[in-house]
Amino acid sequence: MACESEKWVLMVTAQTPTNIAVIKYWGKRDESLILPINDSISVTLDPEHLCTTTTVAVSPRFDQDRMWLNGREISLSGGRYQRCLREIRSRASDVEDEKKGIKIAKKDWENLHVHIASYNNFPTAAGLASSAAGFACLVFSLAKLMNVKEDQGKLSAVARQGSGSACRSLYGGFVKWIMGKHDDGSDSIAVQLADEKHWDDLVIVIAVVSSRQKETSSTSGMRESVETSMLIKHRAKEVVPKRIVDMEEAIKNRDFPSFAHLACADSNQFHAVCLDTCPPIFYMNDTSHRIIGCVEKWNRSEESPQVAYTFDAGPNAVLIARNRKVAASLLQRLLFHFPPSSDTDLSSYVIGDKSILQDVGVADVKDIDALPAPPEVKDNIPSQKYKGDVSYFICTKPGKGPVLLPDKNQALLSPETGLPK
Ligand code: DP6
Repeated sequence: MACESEKWVLMVTAQTPTNIAVIKYWGKRDESLILPINDSISVTLDPEHLCTTTTVAVSPRFDQDRMWLNGREISLSGGRYQRCLREIRSRASDVEDEKKGIKIAKKDWENLHVHIASYNNFPTAAGLASSAAGFACLVFSLAKLMNVKEDQGKLSAVARQGSGSACRSLYGGFVKWIMGKHDDGSDSIAVQLADEKHWDDLVIVIAVVSSRQKETSSTSGMRESVETSMLIKHRAKEVVPKRIVDMEEAIKNRDFPSFAHLACADSNQFHAVCLDTCPPIFYMNDTSHRIIGCVEKWNRSEESPQVAYTFDAGPNAVLIARNRKVAASLLQRLLFHFPPSSDTDLSSYVIGDKSILQDVGVADVKDIDALPAPPEVKDNIPSQKYKGDVSYFICTKPGKGPVLLPDKNQALLSPETGLPK
């Protein structure tokens, strides 16, 4: 290695979004390469509210690969991390930093070790897809550090080997993961269908649902579904291929009624597959079901759907409103039915883009008690309230893909030591 001293640390920091599937990935045809049994489509969420930031560093001083997640050191010995590291290393190119007098040749990367620090700007315990943003960010930042010259599609195939849904976090806007046909997974990649500006009316409200239940991980849940469910076969073969075509069309035409119809139907079918698994898997709880009921009732009372719902492998509801006005009515309904428990203040109950609260006319927690019942529930049965059943709401929107953060102050590792700051 041609460098002045062995003291240097070279690093890169990047930020990568999470994504929510509107046509779900559930089931693998190859467990180790992470190859799915059907295509899927997702919406990338605004990284301002939900993202992973990762700093990767390389130095001749490092004697092993190490990683810190949200400040705590974690093991990199798992197969998924190892595979991502190996795949990226094998694609590394020469790197030269003249100012620092650093020259790393392609072959040197095999012997150099990396330090990785990753941080989620949302609570990991909330059960929001942190592995998608995490693996996408790991692969994206390492690819930049190691001067990997491959396109985003090829990088998505590497991120896929960390966690399937991670491949869709390499782009902003609307993304399709093409299942591919090859046994080596080389054609199982993500592509962008449209960027985040294409349909910028959409507003997303996530209800983080209080839950004490330990959930089955997506990885083992989908394995059990593939092994035991008959419905999953029908879904992958007959249902999803058509839905993918229709969803692409709905996105292209910004056709909200079709988009909502397809997204809700697909979420419900995914959870039906979970019920069809032996033993059955329950990801949604009573609160999730109540939120579905509330949206369905409202959509039915309007001429066409106003809100789409979708649920991943957990009870949290991701609600997509057709525009900001609808999102304000949605939040009003949600706050009416699910007021915060007494010790919660408004600023921690509604997070993300809080400006929607102004449109709802809520400036203080006390204003929630005064909200009127939505017209569609006023009829025969008195509307019920479920205080404390939602932990908090996140207001956000579709967002951009991965970006580099050039500002050294945003790095999570010290430029001198390469250890967490
Ligand atoms: C329900 O990507 O977490 O969120 O590939 O085993 O890491 P692994 O699973 P993961 O599964 C995500 C499943 C889902 C649907 C989706 O995101 O498409």
